[in-house]
Amino acid sequence: MYTFLFLSLAIISVAYLFFKKKHDYWKLRGVPYPRPSLIFGNVGEAIMLRARLSDLLHKVYNEYRGYYYVGLFNFWNPAVVIRNPEIIKDVLIKQFGNFHNNWIDVELNIDPIIGFNPFVLNDGLWKTIRTQLTPQLTSSKIKSMFPLINKGCKNMVEYIKKKTDDNETQGIELKDLSARFTGDNVISCAYGLDGNSFNVKTPDSFKIGEHISSQSKLVQLKQTIALFLPLLRKIFKTTFLGDPVPKMFSDIVLETIKYREENNIERNDYLGYLKELKTKTSPIETTNDMVVAHAFTFFLDGFETSSLTLAYGLLELALHPDIQRKAQKEIQTILEKHNNALTYEAVQEMEYVDNILSETLRKHPIILFLSRICTDNHTFPPPQGPGTGKDVVIEKGTHIFIPVYSVHNDSDYYPNPELFDPDRFTEDARNSRPKCCFLGFGDGPRICLGRKFAIAQVKLGLISILSNFDLKVNKKTCLPVEYENVHVFNSPKTDIWLDFCKRL
Ligand code: HEM
Repeated sequence: MYTFLFLSLAIISVAYLFFKKKHDYWKLRGVPYPRPSLIFGNVGEAIMLRARLSDLLHKVYNEYRGYYYVGLFNFWNPAVVIRNPEIIKDVLIKQFGNFHNNWIDVELNIDPIIGFNPFVLNDGLWKTIRTQLTPQLTSSKIKSMFPLINKGCKNMVEYIKKKTDDNETQGIELKDLSARFTGDNVISCAYGLDGNSFNVKTPDSFKIGEHISSQSKLVQLKQTIALFLPLLRKIFKTTFLGDPVPKMFSDIVLETIKYREENNIERNDYLGYLKELKTKTSPIETTNDMVVAHAFTFFLDGFETSSLTLAYGLLELALHPDIQRKAQKEIQTILEKHNNALTYEAVQEMEYVDNILSETLRKHPIILFLSRICTDNHTFPPPQGPGTGKDVVIEKGTHIFIPVYSVHNDSDYYPNPELFDPDRFTEDARNSRPKCCFLGFGDGPRICLGRKFAIAQVKLGLISILSNFDLKVNKKTCLPVEYENVHVFNSPKTDIWLDFCKRL
């Protein structure tokens, strides 16, 4: 009995000292860090789903003003939160070779459909897949998708008109409206199908989205395990989303390809390109699983992100009638110049609408933090900047966090950050800030692959609505908007209702 007690005590003491020593890592290097707890390090609140990781990063960001970066512990793994835009630029752009992998990774054998998404791919395979998908999301491809997105805009405007005619005072819920719109666009632009989102109660995109929605408790739990507990993820073969991929989705993709093959239908769209990839062998063979994975990338990365951006943008416009009027004036002037045709060129000219989009993503970034892994030892200046002490070697394997939300809300770069002001994004205003202070789409070689598509569909959505309606916040909306407690996408917790008043 005594031997057992003695042994247990000895094991506990050795484990305690071992783990405590691990938490001396930043002290030994002269890097400031908040006090970690023995087991969870600094991420306990996020593991317990009591806070979002970005909230913890934001707290650290604000508590360590004056520092270029701060140490952190993800359990016992050393991590760094970067506060300084020059170092952010180093990590994302200049020294990309030493920081090219994402912290979020997924085992290809456990979760192949998510695992082939460039967002979670690393090293050579990331480069190969990113290079394969890039030609499908260039400006000229997006231009060719304009008629399809325009059709989606017309359907949305008709839907709003019908709703407002039927029931003038009830308002329309924005998350539902925007998701119908972006779901339709993704399904028509990527897969050449009719999303039919404005004619049915529950569109297909909603049924697919249900399995992956960041608001589902199961997805929240799975994401937490996948992010913070890679060992558990491997042991229990935990997938990143609710389902590896909804069967309904793979059926739609594979059946559409089969139909096109059997009927000799050649289409110059994203799915047509994936079908073609299957016939090529270099540099890697494209299997059916990979085709479904690449098709899913468009849906997963493009549907909810864009829909949330449109919803936040419309809310801000409803809250700011002066900005709404200014945008309507720009839209009207430019459309008149282009014979009232909503062409690619006309939309490119609408700079104020562009600025509204950037300001929306500044105030409500959809992806709240960027992450990287240090892939090769790299030297940072001392924590308080050059000339204040010793340089610090950031070792291979260190986790790097870039707190997008905190940078976007730092009054050093954006005075009165709580104010919505699109003029922060005029060319002069942009040039007056250090680079890497706007990270709504990330930056560097891993910058969002679909940003041109995202900008096109959100801009077209805003323009069509502003051309036809004046927006007011409906009294059912609770303000200020509170956010869901999820780590990856920044979703509102409650519904957002707006009144759409037809413009004469
Ligand atoms: C408004 C909508 C969108 C927002 C706010 C957004 C934001 C982002 C952000 C912040 C990143 C991380 C970049 C980094 O780590 O530096 C990212 C990556 C990515 N996005 Fe988007 N995105 C949007 C729409 C889209 C769309 C429509 C697609 C596809 C059609 C897409 C595909 C991707 C892919 C594939 C990556 C991974 C890139 C890589 O690691 O190489 N995104 N996005």
